[in-house]
Amino acid sequence: MNVPFVDLHAQYLRYKDEFDSAIANVISETAFISGKHAKAFEANFSEYAQVGHTVSCANGTDSLEILLDVLGVGPGDEVIIPALSWISTAEVIGTRGATPVFVDIDETYTINVDLIEEKITPQTRGIMPVHLYGCPANMPRIMEIAEKHNLFVIEDSAQAHGAEWGGQRIATFGTAGSFSFYPGKNLGAYGDAGGMVTDSEEIANKARMIANHGQPKKHEHIMEGRNSRMDGMQAAILNVKLPYIETWTEERIAHAARYTELLKESSVQTPIVPEGARHVFHLYVVQHDDRDGLRQHLADHGIGNAIHYPTPMPFMPCYAHLGYTEADFPVATAACKRIVSLPMYPEMTNEHIDRVVETINSYGG
Ligand SMILES: Cc1ncc(COP(=O)(O)O)c(C=O)c1O
Repeated sequence: MNVPFVDLHAQYLRYKDEFDSAIANVISETAFISGKHAKAFEANFSEYAQVGHTVSCANGTDSLEILLDVLGVGPGDEVIIPALSWISTAEVIGTRGATPVFVDIDETYTINVDLIEEKITPQTRGIMPVHLYGCPANMPRIMEIAEKHNLFVIEDSAQAHGAEWGGQRIATFGTAGSFSFYPGKNLGAYGDAGGMVTDSEEIANKARMIANHGQPKKHEHIMEGRNSRMDGMQAAILNVKLPYIETWTEERIAHAARYTELLKESSVQTPIVPEGARHVFHLYVVQHDDRDGLRQHLADHGIGNAIHYPTPMPFMPCYAHLGYTEADFPVATAACKRIVSLPMYPEMTNEHIDRVVETINSYGG
């Protein structure tokens, strides 16, 4: 039995009639850009995310960029981020003309909160923790540091819809939160889509304006903005999916628990969930001494797998000028040589998981 890394088609088949009729409605209503579906999604997502305002936009990278623009980040500013994430987290800072300041991760793959304060300088404007793989960063500690140093906090929540720390939803601790609805995400559209969340009406209004050419009213451009609106088709798909996200999240958590239990005595190191946290397992990431050999063995036996991510961001060619060395990020450096993401999606069965575990256990390398 082969086990794919993800299976978006299985989810489509599970709710095919609902998806097909939602798409047909958008076409027959010609509700293509923003409009009633996006508006409905914003209200629905605010309720789900337990936050005052959701502003939809074109993707999760734009969402981060727009929030940085709202907060006035520009040349000369520094923003603190973890060394391990998808490149968007760093590049949105650089493309504002500001400098990303990288901090090593801890054993949960999120920013090491004990190393943040030593990176704060007079130029530091904010912190952007990432709830990587669906694991919440330690938001109470991050907020304590941010308040002490008067910094903003944008929670990059692209991989963590529904995650919680101490019973509180992520993306509600900081100044604002940013979500991606890229198709493979825990809540994914059928194309690119993103969203900003905040309890501040002022931030929400400004974000909405920037995402729509700086116009609070049609043809009244009070500032220069950009075109970053959610399209109606994506919003309609997301409205179909949203009522099921809790079920899917619980399925992910159950799959992760089964993996962790069955891999207890194996040669891989399983993920650590912080005390009191709700990890929503966008990815189930393990470590192995011979990661590349294990990956080949999995591939040879029809088991999908991937690396998230092979290189810590500070070592990407685009940040070579910052002059970091491996000694600056020992945990991220070691992790990137050992991590492998195993198949994880709600529609997986116990048989799929057992097959993955069996294959890992049969690796002699
Ligand atoms: C942590 C993180 N931040 C930001 C993004 C950007 O989202 P998008 O692909 O929707 O632009 C992603 C997407 O992969 C991500 O994983």
